[in-house]
Amino acid sequence: MAPQINDLPDSSFRRILRQISDLEYEKGFALPGAFYTDSQWLQIEREQLFLRDWFCVGRIEEVSQPGDYFSFDQVGEPILIVHGRDGVIRALANVCRHRGTVIASGSGNSKKFLCPYHHWAYDTTGQLLNAPHMESHQAFDMKDCRLKQLGCEFWQGFIFVNLDPRAPALQVELEPLEKIIGNYHLEQMTLRYQADEVWDTNWKCLLENFMEGYHLTPLHRDTLHKVNPSRLCNHLQPGSRHFGYSVGFTSRLPADRISHPDLSDEEVDTCVMFAVPPGLAVGIGSDYSSFLCLRPLSATRVRVKMGLIFYGDHWAQKDIDNAVELFQHTMDEDKQVLARVQQGLASNSYEPGPLAARDLEGTIWDFYQYLGRNLGGDEPTGTASIGRAENK
Ligand code: FES
Ligand SMILES: [Fe+2]
Repeated sequence: MAPQINDLPDSSFRRILRQISDLEYEKGFALPGAFYTDSQWLQIEREQLFLRDWFCVGRIEEVSQPGDYFSFDQVGEPILIVHGRDGVIRALANVCRHRGTVIASGSGNSKKFLCPYHHWAYDTTGQLLNAPHMESHQAFDMKDCRLKQLGCEFWQGFIFVNLDPRAPALQVELEPLEKIIGNYHLEQMTLRYQADEVWDTNWKCLLENFMEGYHLTPLHRDTLHKVNPSRLCNHLQPGSRHFGYSVGFTSRLPADRISHPDLSDEEVDTCVMFAVPPGLAVGIGSDYSSFLCLRPLSATRVRVKMGLIFYGDHWAQKDIDNAVELFQHTMDEDKQVLARVQQGLASNSYEPGPLAARDLEGTIWDFYQYLGRNLGGDEPTGTASIGRAENK
């Protein structure tokens, strides 16, 4: 009998994660609702996941030219991704070295970044160029002043950032995943559609939703079910930095679709869904793929950058439009159901239910194991206790 993890006496979040560590898939249960509603638990996730681990922020194509940049906030940290005029793409703290103002906003192409407050100016590598009326300061040398540089790695065309200078390199840890998805050559696909949305759900709900195939048939009956039904889902062996599943197609792709020659016939006929937690989920198709980059805003809201990347330059605009419409339609179905999930998770009546078979919801269990490895350790004093639901 699987443990009724919602009923553990004096249970804490960390203890629950330890309790389920390494349990078989067949004993898997959902997590208690407070994991998805408690703002103090989100703070722990912020400190121990998002401030320590690598998170994906977008695609290299977004900053393809020198001077291209985009800026955003990740769990309260203002970040600037910029393609320097020296040819290097960097992640910089978007925080002025004078008195802390956030410097750049939005995205674009620029020769320099001017802080709006006192007009300190930085070049595209983060070096301070000019600081008006600062010549008389005796302990300040402009040449030694630059925006703080953050960990930045590129993998399969995605940009990853790390806010912890002690973090181990990501590329090596993703080698097992690369063995599975390497032939699809995501790094050769090009971003042709991007959207930025705020969803009324916890970031984990969105990741779990994208990463389980159980709902493909019932929720997406008129869309994804027709091409990728739940019955064709297969769980993939997880690694320390990834988890995923594959799903076959109901029929072969039309012959005019073009995909990478490295792909086997079987790979061409298979979608691979993978996550690199905490922030990236990808749905690979042989000819085009989708991705999500997650940025938690609160326990119950998440900002998501989503996009479609396409293989080859043969695409007619109408085919891209059709792909976008299918993607956006299914995402809208997910968005609506996740608002209802979030509502139910905050209810006193909610008790964690059993997870479906490994091929359908094994990835949820893999995600919990990731949470357990990173959050299930010793409790610092003041660890949040279950039950403080956030209303908004
Ligand atoms: S805070 Fe940026 S120039 Fe003063
Ligand atoms: Fe979905």
